This record gives sequence, C-alpha cells and structure tokens, in this order.
Amino acid sequence: MTAFTYRDGHLCAEQVALDTIAESVGTPFYCYSDAMLAGAYGAFADAFAGLPVEIHYAMKANSNRAVVGTLARLGAGADVVSEGEMRLALSAGVAPAHIVFSGVGKTGAELSAALDAGVGQINVESVPELDALSALAAARGVTAAIAIRVNPDVDAGTHAKITTGLKGNKFGIDIEQAAEVFRHAAGLPGIAATGIAIHIGSQLTDLTPFRSAFTRLAELVGTLRDQGHGIDRLDLGGGLGIAYRDEVPPSLPAYADLVREIVAPTGCRMMIEPGRALVGNAGLLVSRVVYRKQGQARTFLIIDAAMNDLLRPSLYDAWHTILPVRQSAADTPHEPVDVVGPICESGDTFAVQRHLPHLAAGDLLAFTGAGAYGAVMASTYNARPLVPEVLVSGEKFAVVRKRPTFDEMMALEALPPWLAGP
Ligand code: LLP
Repeated sequence: MTAFTYRDGHLCAEQVALDTIAESVGTPFYCYSDAMLAGAYGAFADAFAGLPVEIHYAMKANSNRAVVGTLARLGAGADVVSEGEMRLALSAGVAPAHIVFSGVGKTGAELSAALDAGVGQINVESVPELDALSALAAARGVTAAIAIRVNPDVDAGTHAKITTGLKGNKFGIDIEQAAEVFRHAAGLPGIAATGIAIHIGSQLTDLTPFRSAFTRLAELVGTLRDQGHGIDRLDLGGGLGIAYRDEVPPSLPAYADLVREIVAPTGCRMMIEPGRALVGNAGLLVSRVVYRKQGQARTFLIIDAAMNDLLRPSLYDAWHTILPVRQSAADTPHEPVDVVGPICESGDTFAVQRHLPHLAAGDLLAFTGAGAYGAVMASTYNARPLVPEVLVSGEKFAVVRKRPTFDEMMALEALPPWLAGP
C-alpha cells in the first residue's frame, strides 16, 4: 500500500497534491505521509503481537520530531545514538523509560545526560565505555540498566558501508569476549548488565543473516546464564530492508516468526530497533527541473535538489525511483536521461540513463523511498539551505521543519574581530 498515488493526473501525498505543497513551500522539500508511518508501525505491531517485543524506532533514520512524535503516539519507543536524538525523542513525547541509548562512541557528557534523563537502557559497546559509565553512575548513586552489544561476526550481505556485524567492524564486543566482559561488568558499581544487544547491518533483504545472528545470540544467553548472569532482555537491532527498486525484503510475519522460533524461547523481554522499515517508504523528496540540457551523448535533467539534500545515491550508489509529479499519458515514450544536481562535482548525480517520460524545465519530480536517511543526512554543502520537511495527514499538511533563511544560516557564523568592519 502506498499513500503516494496519482489523482486526476497529479501525484499526491494522501489527499494533498504535491504541486500544491511545492507552491506553498518551494522546492526542494521532503514530504512525509502520516498514513504511511501509521501503516508501517501497525504492520510491525501486528507481526509481533503476542510476543514480548518492544518496538524502539531507530531515530537516526529520520529524527524529525513530527515523525518521532507520530510513531511515539502509536506506541513506539526510541533508539537514540546521540544527546541530540535523545533530546528530540524526549521533546517528541517519548518517555525516558522507552528510550534505548546506543552508539559506539558515547561521550562522558552523553552518558551523563542519559543517566540524568533516566533512559530505560544504555547499550554499551566497549570495556572503556563500561568503566566510564560505571564511574558516572556510581557517582550519582544510580544503577544503569545496560545491554552489552556483541558483534556476532555474521555477514549481513548488504552494502559494505552499512554492514556492522562482522569481526572487522568497529561495533560491539567480539562474541568470544562476551563472557569475560559480562564477568567484568558484574563486579562494577552502578551497572546492572542483564541485556545483550546485536545489530548486524542495514537494508537486509534476506533473513538468513538474522537467523545466524539470532542463533548465536540465543546460544550466548545459555552460556552466560550457566555462568550465573541473569540475562533477561535482548535487543535484536534493526536492519530490515525495503524495496527501493526490485528488492524483495522479507515479510514482517516471517521476520517475527524467526524471533518467535529462535529468540523467544530464551524467555527474555525483547526489543527491536527498526529505522528504515518504519519510515523509508513514508517519504518523498520533491524537486523541480531547472534545466534540461541536451549534450551530444547525454540528456541531463539538472534539478534543484542535490547530493547535499539526498546523499544516498552519491554515497552508496543507491537507487531511488523517480516519479514525475504530473502524470504522463500511458503511451508517452520514455527516454534515457541523467538526473543531476547543481553541485560542482560529478558525484552529484541521482540517476544515470534513467528511463523517464519527457520532463522539461519547471516540471516537478519526486524521489521515492526518501523517508529514511534522507533529510537526516543532508548538509549545507555549497551553502545550500537544508530543505524543508512537510508532513501530510489526509487533506492537511504542515511544515514540520522550515527552510532556513540565508540570514539565519549566516547568523551561525561570526567574523573574527580582525575581519569585522570598523
Ligand atoms: N540499530 C542500530 C544499532 C543501528 O546502527 C541502526 C542503523 C539501526 C538500528 C537501524 O537500522 P535500519 O532498521 O534503519 O536498517 N545511512 C545508511 C543506513 C545506516 C544505518 C546505520 N545503522 C543508508 O542510507 O542506507
């Protein structure tokens, strides 16, 4: 199901035509659908109904407070990886007890902020972090509920830049060292280490790596319990992929069945941390064609969005489907074009030789699958303002992050006294 459909020849988000939003907020902009967020969350909740599984939305995928708040209202907790995300989650209405603080390099300030906020769980990824957290918790007279993230050494079979569960990756503690680290944790003040966390990668389109990782995790629970550790919660990470092009991601019921079969028998409370699968398909990036440039070998559509707005094609060679906002007739011939941004590097390319119906300067187009790792990975490269974000619900839409003005952008900088004028 998608809430992005053509109505009377116009691509709409739910009941709002994207050209209407474009007129109101300008281009480019991100557009999210409330119904798509609710649909994705509902599918997870249904699949895991009856299992003691909490859904912690991985906010790194899209940390806009309206998105987080929408999911929180539906019952989601949050998986955060920085003090900024934690503050956004709290302000979006996520209860501290429903926040898991993850991340391989949490600073002392971040660990302190997490303890002071009373987050439900801190996922620890190294012995030095464990020692630092113990000292901070003990100094406050509190006990930190932690999970130790183990690296199960499983190949997620995804893009190298988003594979995290292999021995050579920087994440977690080698699974062979887990027993030793739990023993160390048991002797530390201010630490209650009763959880284990894993996360093997992102955009997984096959359940086999999950099966291997869950199996290793369940074995580890047995080993640690035999050694006297009271393991009672397991964080299974995120990583379930979505279809950007022709991938066929595993179904949620099949994923839940795997959890039921392999992990649930441990009797532990469980949590999952989906990011992309909750928000990826709920967002579009809408952009306008600035010029149509006819080269000798290629036709270029130069659009007003660029790699700084949606980095995934440049960084991972990722495919995002492009839809014309004005529907073309069914018999319109398609032609191969390169869809590029205005930034002065060739990497600023969204699609090469993509077959699209004829688009001219002024036409709008939309990149699908842009709800996850889109706006959050944007930068102001080339002094381009971050693009606004809009949330649609039925016939209504609201700007949930405004486009900064150039004055606002410049106000963050200051000239040193020796350059400031007299
Ligand atoms: N939990 C942990 C510990 C993670 O590191 C991640 C993602 C997630 C959960 C959520 O994973 P998801 O369900 O979204 O796959 N920028 C990349 C993706 C980076 C993912 C990083 N970690 C992209 O655009 O494809």
